[in-house]
Amino acid sequence: TLIRLSDYQAPAWRVSRVELTFDLGIDATEVTSRLQLACDPTGPAPLRLDGEGLTLLDIQLDGQPLPESAWRYQDNVLEVDGARDGSVLETRVRVTPAANTALEGLYLSGSRETGFLLTQCEAEGFRHITFFLDRPDVLASYTVTLRADRERFPVLLAGGNPDGHGELDDGRHWARFVDPHPKPSYLFALVAGRLQKIERDYVTGSGRPLQLVIWAEADAIRHCGYAMDALERAMRWDEQAYGREYDLDVFHVVATHDFNMGAMENKGLNIFNAKYLLADPDSSTDEEYRAVEAVVAHEYFHNWSGNRVTCRDWFQLSLKEGLTVFREQQFSADMNSPALKRIEDVALLRRAQFPEDAGPLAHPVRPAQYSEINNFYTATVYEKGSELVRMVAGRLGRDGFRRGMDQYFSRHDGQAATLEDFLGALGDANGIDLGAYLAWYAQAGTPRLTARGRYDAAHRTYTLTLSQHTAPTPGQPHKRALPIPVKLALFDPRGRMVPLHLAGNGADAGASERVLVVDKAEQSFVFEQVEAAPVPSLLRGFSAPVILECDYAPADLALLLRHDPDGFNRWEAGQQLAARAYDNLREGNSSAALDAWCEALSALFGDTSVDAALLADLLTPPGEIELSERERQVNPSHVHALRQQLQEHLALRIGRETLEQRYTALAAHTSLELDAASQARRRLKRRVLELLARIDPWAAHGLATLQYDNAPNMTDRLGALAVLVRGDAPQAHAALAHFRERYADNPLAMDKWFSVQALLPGAVVLERVRQLESDPAFTLKNPNRVNSLFGAWARSNPDGFHRPDGSGYQLLAERLRQLDALNPQVSARLATAFNGWQRLEPTRHAAARSAIAALAAHPGLSRNLTEIVQSMLQG
Ligand code: ARG
Ligand code: ZN
Repeated sequence: TLIRLSDYQAPAWRVSRVELTFDLGIDATEVTSRLQLACDPTGPAPLRLDGEGLTLLDIQLDGQPLPESAWRYQDNVLEVDGARDGSVLETRVRVTPAANTALEGLYLSGSRETGFLLTQCEAEGFRHITFFLDRPDVLASYTVTLRADRERFPVLLAGGNPDGHGELDDGRHWARFVDPHPKPSYLFALVAGRLQKIERDYVTGSGRPLQLVIWAEADAIRHCGYAMDALERAMRWDEQAYGREYDLDVFHVVATHDFNMGAMENKGLNIFNAKYLLADPDSSTDEEYRAVEAVVAHEYFHNWSGNRVTCRDWFQLSLKEGLTVFREQQFSADMNSPALKRIEDVALLRRAQFPEDAGPLAHPVRPAQYSEINNFYTATVYEKGSELVRMVAGRLGRDGFRRGMDQYFSRHDGQAATLEDFLGALGDANGIDLGAYLAWYAQAGTPRLTARGRYDAAHRTYTLTLSQHTAPTPGQPHKRALPIPVKLALFDPRGRMVPLHLAGNGADAGASERVLVVDKAEQSFVFEQVEAAPVPSLLRGFSAPVILECDYAPADLALLLRHDPDGFNRWEAGQQLAARAYDNLREGNSSAALDAWCEALSALFGDTSVDAALLADLLTPPGEIELSERERQVNPSHVHALRQQLQEHLALRIGRETLEQRYTALAAHTSLELDAASQARRRLKRRVLELLARIDPWAAHGLATLQYDNAPNMTDRLGALAVLVRGDAPQAHAALAHFRERYADNPLAMDKWFSVQALLPGAVVLERVRQLESDPAFTLKNPNRVNSLFGAWARSNPDGFHRPDGSGYQLLAERLRQLDALNPQVSARLATAFNGWQRLEPTRHAAARSAIAALAAHPGLSRNLTEIVQSMLQG
């Protein structure tokens, strides 16, 4: 059954107050709920509450036990007769946390002996805990009392401010929490068990003292310091950038190894996948440190963009997620390098979102319908959603956007809002109608923007013609033109930006950069007083989430690669050039682009003024998934081989000795420090080693072995290990055995041990995946472990997954079936690794189809997995 946006109706019943009492136990937890109901006076509607898998023990209405004839519990709905406006409904139910392998609702993390209890409610987990109007537009204030055995569950936490605790009989104790801010049920959370903490006092900008507490299991608590620092930075930043302060007396954060997603912004009690909270140099890479900072900030920022102003319904998910990703991106740019952050984010968009938009799972940022909402926590809703906010923010400018956000937060505080509300508030605060941007939220697919330039020497004019086209996506055969902001500059042949004089537009005349908005199928713009044929730098900073096609000559791109001061576009020019070089290699054509790319990069390689981290990114060609998008029929092994060749050419041009010298110079600086310069050196060092491995594996493996043995941190250790493993070096075996032993007790490090092997190129990986599955450390019950092996293999190793005989598809389909019985959210997400199968070359295409069809035909699949495989086959 499909839920449709167009069917939205305001709730007939609301809950103003919730009182919950939990008698916690691992095998059985009893939940007593007291709901203060309010009824919409416009019409009597039956009271229907959501509830899944609950054993109802007791039910009372307005203090009276309800006869069995007055209620019905079937098909996950509890219907109650006789409720009125102001009624109080009390229920007592039993749930079984230890049996909950779906990790939704109340579940156990870790072992029965030492693990702890926790909840995950977004999107619809609360109905697995108690009966409720489990939808985001029902906001209530919560009072939560937890009761449990003191020895087994010494720490009891729920969202809100603490409101007393004490002893009970039989070694039990209790704690109460009151949340003064009305919230939807998906933001409810509790945690109970043996946890350690670190604490920090914090005083808000307006002078209110509060306490930050991070909780983790005993062996992990010493890895929480970095997250605490990041949290403090995020809180300070939100005060300064958006004027937003935290609003409770205490902010709890908890780490768990058993979590379906990255983290969750529960009010006052954020819960994190340990992967995004724990960090220490011995087991975390530099990338992981940055991810911890970003996710800690993301969840904290939700306190305003998501919690204080929440979503009316799940179709508006991007209202909180796109906006919060955007806020996190701004924060991370401020904390680190803006250009590197932009490169990283756009690379992610292209790797994860563009393929989504181009395949059978394509959906608008605001989907029109869904069967299972958990399938819509996608790169489109998050990453493309952030790009849409970025376009609007760019349109309003810094001060205008802040004015608009102030308006949005104050107008909708305490409400469940829509994307119309968001654009309305931003527009109203600036006297602008932003309604045209709604089309971006409603239309799936990535627009292609084609640019053609024509220079007229006689009139010294340059005419830029921009046209847009979006290909059909499933269910959306006809596409309309969208407003596309194109930030641009023009370069003269010597690589200097020229002043812009746009015909018929005096504003900003003479500026060197401006934004043109293309909102028709085709538009032309004429620039005057242009002395020579210019090279345009388009979509600077990636000003819109589109695919740009421009008839650049290789020399034009090389000029931008050398001279564009926009760090993003400089990198972009290199990516375009590399993509052209890839096309050349595939077609065996003349290699003007390949020459230009290698030439420009080897020049930059010798230029010590180029930032080392940017250089590392410049030296990295587009990934295999991105390159596959250039093929009409994809042969992933072929793409892999061509990309390797591309790197080989580059390495040869730079030269073996130059690479080795640079590596040695970088290795001499090895340190434990996390500052930008140290991180940049490590990033470049790894890249240089990888390039060297393309042309002199023997030397590279020798250096990698030394690096592995002497690495003072995980970045260097894992980087070296990856070079050894992927190069099939004789030293790989010993290094893997050493790593396995050294990190046997560290789950996050062990995940990397699985991943690095799942990325083995070629046919051999299949045997390796099967071996790894039978390693005692492997389990289908832990989402991180599943993703570290099967996710890495099926998603990040196209050559190793797409075996021509279909063996990869069969193995994945088989595991998906087993996994689905345990955890539908994780199986459905992993199944999206089949995305793009329609464009595979005929042999693989047929093999993929039959594996997906066989999976789809299996009876008893979850709604989650069913929706994904059905769309996969229909799209
Ligand atoms: N709201 C969380 C975030 O910060 C994601 C939680 C999604 N969980 C789920 N089961 N769909 O992005
Ligand atoms: Zn989020």
